[in-house]
Amino acid sequence: MGIMKPKAIAIDGPAGSGKSTVAREVAKALQWKHIDTGAMYRAVTYLVLKNNIDLNNIDLISSLVNNARMEISNDPNRGNEIFINGENVTKAIREPLVTKNVSSVSSIEGVRLALVSLQRILAAKDNVVMEGRDIGSVVLPEADYKFYITASSSERALRRSKDLEKMGFKIELDELQREIEARDHMDSTRAVNPLKIPVDATVIDCTAITAKEVVNLIVNKVMEESA
Ligand code: DC
Repeated sequence: MGIMKPKAIAIDGPAGSGKSTVAREVAKALQWKHIDTGAMYRAVTYLVLKNNIDLNNIDLISSLVNNARMEISNDPNRGNEIFINGENVTKAIREPLVTKNVSSVSSIEGVRLALVSLQRILAAKDNVVMEGRDIGSVVLPEADYKFYITASSSERALRRSKDLEKMGFKIELDELQREIEARDHMDSTRAVNPLKIPVDATVIDCTAITAKEVVNLIVNKVMEESA
């Protein structure tokens, strides 16, 4: 009897589309691991900023990421936590300064190579719901299921502002919308692994439907096909 290959659901989409909530809830329902790859790019960005490294110093940033230790814990009681070089950065990576700089750090090829290989190692170990920008297109092109989740930029700004408020950050709505649009532009026009809709993905527009409805749709599809 052969060893069963772990299964994967790839969820891609732009900032604030609701894909994190969806990925988390789908993982919980199926009892699979939730891997938030955006958090990994954010953790590297945090480290770059903490060390005062010039964002143009590509070689130094690449060597920093190659020498960094990154750990992700999936304790169901505590939620996902992320550590870089032993430091718990789960909350710090959501700070506006990290958000502002993450697109630029994640456009560096050395950073992407290191994180993509780590993401593939994680997906080889367990059934995963992996969310990001390039999961279905680059990281796991063989994923069993691929979804692309999107929503209008004004709806996404509104959701981000609510999330940030819960964490104690207050940012004007139109500033958030501008930032989201700027990040979309950078993420989808960068040279290496840009944000794009994988050819074989199911596209779900979340503007008018709730995250719960999307979760049900995905979970039902997976359950039906594995029954
Ligand atoms: O999903 P998020 O907003 O936390 O992602 C933060 C940034 O990380 C996003 O602007 C682009 C980058 N990212 C990426 O380039 N590739 C991924 N697979 C995930 C995120």
